[in-house]
Amino acid sequence: MNTTTNDDFIDCWNEILVPKWNRFRHLLSGNGAIHSAIAYKDFGFRPGDKVLDIGCGYGETCLEIGQQVTGTGEVLGIDCTDAFLAVANDECDRAGLRQVRFELADAQTHALPPEYFDAAFSRFGVMFFQSAVMAMRNSHKALKPGGTLCLIVWRTIRDNPCWGAAKEIALKYLPPPGDAARTCGPGPFSWADEETDRAMLKAAGFTNIELFKRIDADVRMGTTVEEAVDYQVLVGPSGEIIREAGAEGQRKLPVIREEMAAFMRRNVRADGTVWLPSSTWAIMARK
Ligand SMILES: C[S@@+](CC[C@H](N)C(=O)[O-])C[C@H]1O[C@@H](n2cnc3c(N)ncnc32)[C@H](O)[C@@H]1O
Repeated sequence: MNTTTNDDFIDCWNEILVPKWNRFRHLLSGNGAIHSAIAYKDFGFRPGDKVLDIGCGYGETCLEIGQQVTGTGEVLGIDCTDAFLAVANDECDRAGLRQVRFELADAQTHALPPEYFDAAFSRFGVMFFQSAVMAMRNSHKALKPGGTLCLIVWRTIRDNPCWGAAKEIALKYLPPPGDAARTCGPGPFSWADEETDRAMLKAAGFTNIELFKRIDADVRMGTTVEEAVDYQVLVGPSGEIIREAGAEGQRKLPVIREEMAAFMRRNVRADGTVWLPSSTWAIMARK
């Protein structure tokens, strides 16, 4: 039985994932931005809105939403990873956006002001909680009546070759991570199923789901084939398989890298960058 707790997931973000995310931020955040730029049009944040950003990471979306809500609005970004928030605070100061601030928090339990926010937003930040329902309930309490929850989450791994292709290659050589694997939470695809999402949102108190929209877009895997391979052997489902396989993972690394490189070469554009398809849900639910 897996007895991993939310604190274990939070430790994994702080202890294991930070250096990898720092190295590949330009890909992770850059690809997220492709999806959020499309979803913002539906989410429609307005000047004066107070917005909560759940699992805000480096806070890029907080700064973007901060501009949308202008100086008359407010954005609070919450995240459980110290190192991400240090960057977020620094970049926010440099941008001079006084309407944006950050708090180190576990989104499942953090005390938020009741009925305060017009919207609660998250780009890829809600898939890593031990209990997504508990975290969504916490956000529900913090929304004004009529406020909206605006989420961007990955669809299935089959719909996301940007993660799935490298995972399939890693699994040809290594076993899947076991029950005791160190992991950052239920995982990127834990909101992939529409029916489950609707049930979770209902359980959290959101009865009025106004938008469930599929967004498909190619995302950048690397500025070169070499970088695309580095990215996939360190981050995401394939990175987890290799890390959790320990010494055997390192032994198989050359052959895995070779096969991944062959795959990435088939997806290179004229400028040498590598791109693969990705797919998300943009979801809006009203309190
Ligand atoms: C995939 S990243 C997304 C970051 C950012 N929203 C973006 O789109 O670039 C997931 C984020 O959720 C945060 N996170 C994971 N579990 C959390 C929790 N229990 N409470 C708050 N933040 C959490 C992580 O630290 C990480 O920054």
